[in-house]
Amino acid sequence: MALTLQDDIDEVIVDPRTYGDEHAYHRAFAQLRAHDPVHWTSPRDFRPFWAVTRHADIMAVESNPANFLNDPRQFLVSIADEEMLFAQTGSRNFARNLVAMDDPDHRAYRALTSAWFGAKSVRSLETEIAALARETVDRMLASGGSCDFAKEIAAWYPLRTIMIVLGVPQEDEPLMLRLSQKLFGSTDAETGGGDAMASMVEAFAAFNAYFDRITQDRRANPRNDVASILANATIDGKPIGDSERNAYYLIVAAAGHDTTSSAISGGLLALLQNPDQMARLRADPELIGNAVEEFIRWTSPVKHFFRTAVADCVVGGKQVRAGDSLMMCYPSGNRDETAFDAPFDFRVDRADARKHIAFGYGPHLCLGNMLAKLEMRLLFKELLERTADIQLAGAPAWVEANFVSGLKRLPISFTART
Ligand code: HEM
Repeated sequence: MALTLQDDIDEVIVDPRTYGDEHAYHRAFAQLRAHDPVHWTSPRDFRPFWAVTRHADIMAVESNPANFLNDPRQFLVSIADEEMLFAQTGSRNFARNLVAMDDPDHRAYRALTSAWFGAKSVRSLETEIAALARETVDRMLASGGSCDFAKEIAAWYPLRTIMIVLGVPQEDEPLMLRLSQKLFGSTDAETGGGDAMASMVEAFAAFNAYFDRITQDRRANPRNDVASILANATIDGKPIGDSERNAYYLIVAAAGHDTTSSAISGGLLALLQNPDQMARLRADPELIGNAVEEFIRWTSPVKHFFRTAVADCVVGGKQVRAGDSLMMCYPSGNRDETAFDAPFDFRVDRADARKHIAFGYGPHLCLGNMLAKLEMRLLFKELLERTADIQLAGAPAWVEANFVSGLKRLPISFTART
């Protein structure tokens, strides 16, 4: 590791290419943790912010929602794009969804679906998701000994799960996949088309039109799904607003699958690159639950969220002013040497894996965290039981995006267990 901060560190922190190269990312953030863990970052094209890179400082900020708000800045958007968005929509936020809200609204909106994503309800989905995991591995095994695991397997399985939860018909899944890839991978030329803001605005409008149709349907024919809850939801006796409802669908649909796909394909890659860990897991399938925590710590698919300080305060020894924004650098917190034993070792039996902050922390802790873990546990169980061997069959490639990113290609070859 280099001992000093590289000169262009502020640009490196925001550059989507940093996130398409895990070594570049971890090199840069290890320097930050060592030398300037709460770093004032002034990149050319973005409003400045504090990059918060240590586990303890991220937890301290996220567990103090009275002083660190989610509104008005949630993720990195360039100044030019913020201005374009403002000119087009009159707002600096894409959508008023859970991650853009603070209390009391956040508490009220989160309560609408929190039971759906709670332990009891997620457990009740186990049989259905286990069947889906089986079908997914059936499809992989039928593909003749090799496939692109990221594209053909990991992209579809969480998407199908979240569509079941939402209540979106299977035939609309390709549309959902295309739109959310545009939204999250918008800076990657292959997945987003390269023009970040145009890609996002276009995807956003298409999502809204789609969910307006779903709302009409669920008002006429309510069912037992999240779409019906949102279509008919009221707060303080009044129906929730159209834009809040669509924003809610969007966050559940989009946040619910790209993230989990990335953790699944990144988890498999880590096993392939650490054959001793693959052997350990195959020998002791009881470890899958812990291994899933380690996959999520290792991959940290959500690269950041922001908070904005209400009052002057000190974070990690730095004087933060009211109105300053802070970037929570989750993958960095998950490799923090002061929080994890040998954080750059990938270990399926890591005792401290559950301490990861890949799902955030505090009142905004990922709503879908139990669902994501269940999906992953069931898929890896099926995958390991039904294959005798899996090998890397080409170079993996990552999406170049600084908000949510993971593998876009993972070529593998495999032998089915007979
Ligand atoms: C491995 C997979 C996933 C990762 C790494 C992940 C990560 C995150 C992170 C970092 C946050 C912000 C937390 C914070 O600000 O403290 C978040 C929030 C959220 N996630 Fe996930 N997520 C995953 C899967 C899912 C799934 C399957 C769903 C399905 C519903 C989901 C829905 C949400 C929602 C609705 C929020 C907003 C919660 C709020 O602001 O109250 N996520 N997630």
